[in-house]
Amino acid sequence: MSLVLDPAAQDLLFREARTANTFTDEPVTDEQVQAIYDLVKYGPTAFNQTPLRITLVRSPEARERLVQHMAEGNQPKTATAPLVAILSADNEFHEELPALFPAFPQAKDVFFAERPAREGSAALNAALQAAYFIVGVRAAGLAAGPMTGFDFEGVRKEFLDDDHTPLMIVNIGRPGQDAWYPRSPRLAYVDVVTTV
Ligand SMILES: Cc1cc2nc3c(=O)[nH]c(=O)nc-3n(C[C@H](O)[C@H](O)[C@H](O)COP(=O)(O)O)c2cc1C
Repeated sequence: MSLVLDPAAQDLLFREARTANTFTDEPVTDEQVQAIYDLVKYGPTAFNQTPLRITLVRSPEARERLVQHMAEGNQPKTATAPLVAILSADNEFHEELPALFPAFPQAKDVFFAERPAREGSAALNAALQAAYFIVGVRAAGLAAGPMTGFDFEGVRKEFLDDDHTPLMIVNIGRPGQDAWYPRSPRLAYVDVVTTV
């Protein structure tokens, strides 16, 4: 009763949504990915810095190169998912800040002149955006399989550059056969929330 979001949407985004480990062959189109991005880009980040960058791994040759960097248990699903996305944080996001945060264009120099400050902020805010992205995939009626079981330095060298830090790799598609493990329990409200 406390939530205004339609119950069917609550199920789609959270209660019934699962992390898929297998997928059907149905392709995921660029139009779907664009619709997902155009929704989740409105999720908030500090100073509106939006440091998430998304690399769609579409060619079979690139897919093969990526699979080599995945942990063994993640290799089959990364090899067979209709679409795989590398999510990374842009550590040079500050270049866009004057345009992205016109209310305080000096933020670029006041807070983000030093690379370590940018890296910390980019890691947090791109991770937030990765979470929005996963929920956006679900909003498109698709399932996401996020993974951090891979060689981060290998993926950075193979697909990115020194200015980008890999965050996670996400398999995307419609769930296939035996797509998920049994649902694991979640911590209860009383175990997580304290009031002071
Ligand atoms: C950031 C992140 C990293 C993950 N890494 C892996 C991974 O490397 N391999 C894997 O099989 N599952 C991975 N998972 C999947 C989680 O185990 C799964 O989302 C969680 O158990 C919840 O499952 P459910 O959505 O089916 O309830 C990852 C999930 C997240 C969000």
